[in-house]
Amino acid sequence: MKVLVTGGAGYIGSHTCVELINAGYDVVIVDNLDNSSKKAVGRIGEITGKEAVFYEADIRDGAEMERIFAKEKPGCVIHFAGLKAVGESVKKPLEYYENNVYGTLVLLDAMRKNDCKNIIFSSSATVYGDPAFVPITEECPKGKVTNPYGRTKSMIEDILTDLHVSDPEWNVILLRYFNPIGAHKSGLIGEDPKGIPNNLLPYVSKVAIGALEKVGVFGNDYNTPDGTGVRDYIHVVDLAIGHVKAIDKIKESPGVKIYNLGTGNGYSVLEVIAAFSKACGHEVPYEFKPRRDGDIATCYADPSLAKKELGWEAHYGLDEMCRDLWKWQSMNPDGYAG
Ligand code: NAD
Ligand code: UD1
Repeated sequence: MKVLVTGGAGYIGSHTCVELINAGYDVVIVDNLDNSSKKAVGRIGEITGKEAVFYEADIRDGAEMERIFAKEKPGCVIHFAGLKAVGESVKKPLEYYENNVYGTLVLLDAMRKNDCKNIIFSSSATVYGDPAFVPITEECPKGKVTNPYGRTKSMIEDILTDLHVSDPEWNVILLRYFNPIGAHKSGLIGEDPKGIPNNLLPYVSKVAIGALEKVGVFGNDYNTPDGTGVRDYIHVVDLAIGHVKAIDKIKESPGVKIYNLGTGNGYSVLEVIAAFSKACGHEVPYEFKPRRDGDIATCYADPSLAKKELGWEAHYGLDEMCRDLWKWQSMNPDGYAG
């Protein structure tokens, strides 16, 4: 089967393309390179020994999307393309709704016109807001999302669900990711954030390599074992493999399905810094700072539904996540720009 991957040059997309090619799929990447590099596409080929077809195109360009679908005739789409910086989305809500929500509408229209009605969507645990309970199952109600980025995820989930209701030939799998970190073990692909990172692990690894001075730990008075925030960090390769399993599922015409992709383990900020210090061989300096607006104390998955229905579970632990991130960071101190 041919799989069209929007945002396939990005962090999670590039790792997913590697696993798709390894599993024997033909991969077509559509990416406008807004937050990625063409080098990542070359590296996918280097790792797998097989090139992915690549279109530098914007999902909001309807004519171009129709042309690509008519030519490639994919059986399934994995939809990663979108803007993802929470803080930026508060400052630029129109850009976020336009890229993420409108972009998805254009993509879906091109799919419909070409009779491709299978889609796997990158959603986020952010749709649970401050979760009603932990560990979070898919039954947990969606919560109050505190920013436009999260609202685009929640809206797109609803749009895809409405689409299936209107035409049951559509199959939709909504994957709610917890906190993806790490990199491919080759050190050839990884996360390459532009500017000062917002997320914890990219920040920690930049401090470890000496590009930033110390990690600011946002809050040490949460109701958690050591007072710092607890999250479910998942190795990006485990996450990527979850998408391959989702394709197996979508072939069964399942209608609409939702799966949490996490490990089921929560780690605090201090535990993460300690694990990374071990991986890089020296202490990563940090200081406590006030809580960050919109943060919650604890968030981790109950991933048992994905295990039961997709036959998927995460295999890598925190030490391996830190080891592989450190390898990527040390081999590519300037990311893809180096
Ligand atoms: P990323 O920014 O590395 O990848 C997104 C890719 O989409 C980039 O390569 C970018 O150039 C491309 N893109 C953006 N807008 C586009 C457009 N209009 N047309 C074509 N390409 C476009 O981000 P990522 O971390 O790989 O995330 C992938 C998806 O997973 C996103 O939808 C993100 O919201 C979602 N997600 C990510 C996380 C996370 O922690 N990384 C967590 C939950 C959900
Ligand atoms: C954030 C987003 C979420 C998004 C996810 C993945 C917010 C409020 N939430 O989740 O919507 O889906 O990224 O992209 O931004 N921390 C520090 N110092 C730092 C950075 C983070 O102490 O410099 C702490 C945070 O307070 C949190 C933990 O580390 O407790 C993880 O933070 P982060 O990596 O930003 O992910 P989330 O906040 O879970």
